Formats: sequence, structure tokens, C-alpha cells
Amino acid sequence: MTKTRAVVLSGTGGPEVLDYVEVDLPPPAQDEVQIRHAAIGLNFIDVYFRTGLYKAPHMPFVPGKEAAGTVTALGPGVTDFNVGDRVAYAGSDGAYSVERNIETKHLVKVPDGISLETAAAMMLKGMTAQYLLNRTFKVGPESTLLFHAAAGGVGLIAGQWAKALGATVIGTVGSDAKARMALEYGYDHVINYNTEDFVTRVSEISGGKGVDVVYDSIGRDTFPGSLDCLKRLGMFVSFGQSSGPIEDFTLALLAQKGSLFATRPTLFSYIATREELTDCANALFDVVLSNKVRINVNQTYPLREVGRAHTDLEARKTTGATLLIPE
Ligand SMILES: NC(=O)c1ccc[n+]([C@@H]2O[C@H](COP(=O)([O-])OP(=O)(O)OC[C@H]3O[C@@H](n4cnc5c(N)ncnc54)[C@H](OP(=O)(O)O)[C@@H]3O)[C@@H](O)[C@H]2O)c1
Repeated sequence: MTKTRAVVLSGTGGPEVLDYVEVDLPPPAQDEVQIRHAAIGLNFIDVYFRTGLYKAPHMPFVPGKEAAGTVTALGPGVTDFNVGDRVAYAGSDGAYSVERNIETKHLVKVPDGISLETAAAMMLKGMTAQYLLNRTFKVGPESTLLFHAAAGGVGLIAGQWAKALGATVIGTVGSDAKARMALEYGYDHVINYNTEDFVTRVSEISGGKGVDVVYDSIGRDTFPGSLDCLKRLGMFVSFGQSSGPIEDFTLALLAQKGSLFATRPTLFSYIATREELTDCANALFDVVLSNKVRINVNQTYPLREVGRAHTDLEARKTTGATLLIPE
């Protein structure tokens, strides 16, 4: 059997549980293709699987949900992809590998004009920005929104996209350098939540009105402050927990804070059908090809050094997108 290399988790824990090892690569099965990755996207969800906050479906487990590459072989029944196609995906576990087999239902073809590196950096983060701003809450020129972790992978894409939709965009970040960066990527106002009280600043910026929607991927550290930034009947979108899960949420709080709405979405519910996936990906390709949204790869690591990449992501040292490059 052919061999390849992959990062394998045999248990949960710190970055040291990420083992770069040789693994079997069988021929692609029914409805699968084999691909060679050009680049793999690093995402905070990979940390949740490594630590055990999210339970891996089995062990050993190859983590990673986002990558782009070239089709090298077709399994039985595959008619809509060919050897040599440039493809990308977000959502199928197993991206931390040099080569892999994958069901074609996860794949989209990468258009000319977008490199495989850019595709790997944007599929998960960019489709997340797409559904958050266009479906979870429909952002438009009348909207004022707050987006936490504005200089992060999802944050830099969301700021530009929200600005392109005409919204007033407020972001939070953990340093002044990140604030300067976010201001270059669509944000009208950026608050350093390590040195300023973000609830007070949002109130000042919005003239005491509050915002229509808060996109919160921080979790524990920004709760319940995020609710206090909202207008009456505003929408709280809790889409991640980089500081840890929210533990003391009760429905009654929404009534007390002004009959708020709250949702806890994940990308995978929003791209569950083939049509939803292609619509979402095409919307992302459009904003990138029209230069409304620039994709920033600000850190690149060899795949074998994935532990260092996780350490830096968790230590809040990264900005924009991070790629792992297989050798
Ligand atoms: N639900 C979904 O569909 C979905 C999809 C994609 C991503 N997400 C979520 O969106 C968030 C962003 O993902 P990403 O991959 O783009 O990561 P990221 O934003 O590039 O990195 C996380 C950022 O969160 C901030 N942060 C605040 N407190 C932190 C803490 N205690 N530890 C670590 N970071 C902390 C840091 O920015 P500052 O230094 O500026 O505070 C850090 O850079 C994650 O929570 C992820 O789970 C959700």
C-alpha cells in the first residue's frame, strides 16, 4: 500500500500530542478522490479537537478541516472531478496530511485567479464570515455590528466583508498593533479590550444606542459584556469560545437585557447541502476575485511543525490566516 504522512492525534492534550507520522494511503473508495495538499488552513476548531473540548469521532484521529490541493486519482463513481483539478474544502476532518482521500461532496473547484494557498487560507474562515453576515443576521447599510477578535483569521475577513455590505463595523482586539491592522481591513472603530472597557466604548461609539448584532467567538471572557453592547431586540451570535465556554447562560437573561435574540451557529449546519456549500463558496470567491475582501496569510509553518503553530494561535500571537505547508 502507498504511504503518506499525516499529523495524528492518539489522545488529547497540549501541542505535544500532535504526531507527524507515516500513514497508509489506500486507493480512493467509491465517490472519493485522492488529493495532494498544497496548503492546509489552521483554525481554532483544531485546538478544540486537540484539547478534547470537542470530541474526536474516533482515535487515532487526523485533525484539520480546511485545505486545498490537486486531484491525483479518482475513485469509482466519480464523474464531476478529474485528475489535475484544483480543489478546496472546509469541513472534512483529516486535512493535516500530505495526501488524503476525500468524498467529492466536500469539494469545490478553485477558480482561476485564486491560488491554492489563498483557497486553503479562506475556505473555512471566509465561508464562516459569509453565513454570519448574510444568513445568521442579514447585515446591510443600516447595520452597526460588533465583531470580537477583529484581527484574527475570521475577523479580518469579516471586517472587510461587513464594510463591503455598507455596515458600520466595530471590532475588538488584544493589542494596539492588532488594532492598527483591523483598521486597515474594514473596521471603522477598533477597541483594545485589554486596555479599554469594551461595553463603555461601544456605548460611546454608538451614541448610547448599542449595536444591532454582536459576533462573539471569545466566549467566557466577553460574556455577559457582549449582551450589554446590544440594542433592545438585538442579536447575540456566539460562534466560538477561544477563551473558554460560556457557563452561566440562562434564557431569562435575554429578557432582562432587552428581549434579545441569541444563536449558537456552526458553519457545518449552514453548508449541509451541496447547493448551500456551492452558494456559500461562490459568494466567497466573488468577494475575493472582486478585491472586496483580501485574504491575509500572516503565518506559515511546515506541517511537521504544527505544534508550534497551535502554540502561537493559542498564545494570541497570530493575525489573519495561518497555513501549514506539507513537504
Ligand atoms: N461557529 C463557526 O462556524 C466557526 C467557524 C470558524 C471559526 N469559529 C470560531 O471563531 C473564532 C476565531 O477563529 P480563528 O481560527 O479565526 O482564530 P483567530 O481569531 O485567528 O484566533 C483567536 C483570537 O481570539 C482572541 N482571543 C481572546 N481570548 C483568547 C484566549 N483566551 N485564547 C486565545 N485567543 C483568544 C485572540 O485575539 P486578540 O489577541 O485580539 O484578543 C486570538 O488571536 C474561534 O473561536 C473559532 O472557534 C467558529
